[in-house]
Amino acid sequence: MSRRLVNPARRIADGGGLPFAGSSQSKSRPSPLLSIGLVVVGAILLVIYCYGGPGGLSIKENVIKVEGGVSCAFEVQRAIPILKKAYGDSMHKVMHVGPDTCSVVTQLLKEEDTEAWGVEPYELDDADTNCKSLVRKGIVRVADIKFPLPYRAKSFSLVIVSDAVDYLSPKYLNKTIPELARVSTAGIVIFAGYPGQQRAKVAELSKFGRPAKLRSSSWWIRYFLQNNLEENEAASKKFEQASTKRSYQPACQVFHLYSNH
Ligand SMILES: *[C@@H]1O[C@H](CO)[C@@H](O)[C@H](O)[C@H]1NC(C)=O
Repeated sequence: MSRRLVNPARRIADGGGLPFAGSSQSKSRPSPLLSIGLVVVGAILLVIYCYGGPGGLSIKENVIKVEGGVSCAFEVQRAIPILKKAYGDSMHKVMHVGPDTCSVVTQLLKEEDTEAWGVEPYELDDADTNCKSLVRKGIVRVADIKFPLPYRAKSFSLVIVSDAVDYLSPKYLNKTIPELARVSTAGIVIFAGYPGQQRAKVAELSKFGRPAKLRSSSWWIRYFLQNNLEENEAASKKFEQASTKRSYQPACQVFHLYSNH
């Protein structure tokens, strides 16, 4: 502060007879100060960037890695509050189909007014005690979804599928998706991977029988249209609204469908 006050006075004193020289001097003199100031500001910005920027980035990368490397089952769990907003009463009797169904069912059962069942399409190789107990109680079943599901028509209000469809060829999708529609009254929610996402670890491939085929949303939409599945527009809209409100961004593609058979 005192320095800046000194400068104009000096300018008058120094450049008395030579206004031109004086003014050029006055310009060059504060400039080291100015550049020091700029360097300091730059350094502060750099520090903020280093702590804020890449820090945030690595957290994001971790989330994607966890979701991508493991499954959309995790995404279903994150989406439960949003699904409740979108489906309301239809969240009373939910069936989840897909790998890691024990963790999804466990999460769903924590919700008030929600009964949940699960179908694990592949073996339960590393089931924990909680999962084994769900299987013992008949809440979770291991069933090959390429064959008819072991449930009566309209047994559930909502069927939520994650990942499982990514491992099915169109031939089997044609058998499985009508089955999912058969056991549900309010429709099906499909969580599918985005093309380019990393799915199961190589070690797990034998379990799934084939590598995941991650299809684009236009592929899926065409597929649903061919198979008389319509978008549940009301649910889609509510799901989107609730997602926006909670700043929820699904890491998987989410389709809300009902069968018009
Ligand atoms: C699946 O079903 C659709 C509609 O019925 C049909 O057009 C298509 O050819 C079927 N795909 C396979 C692989 O069977």
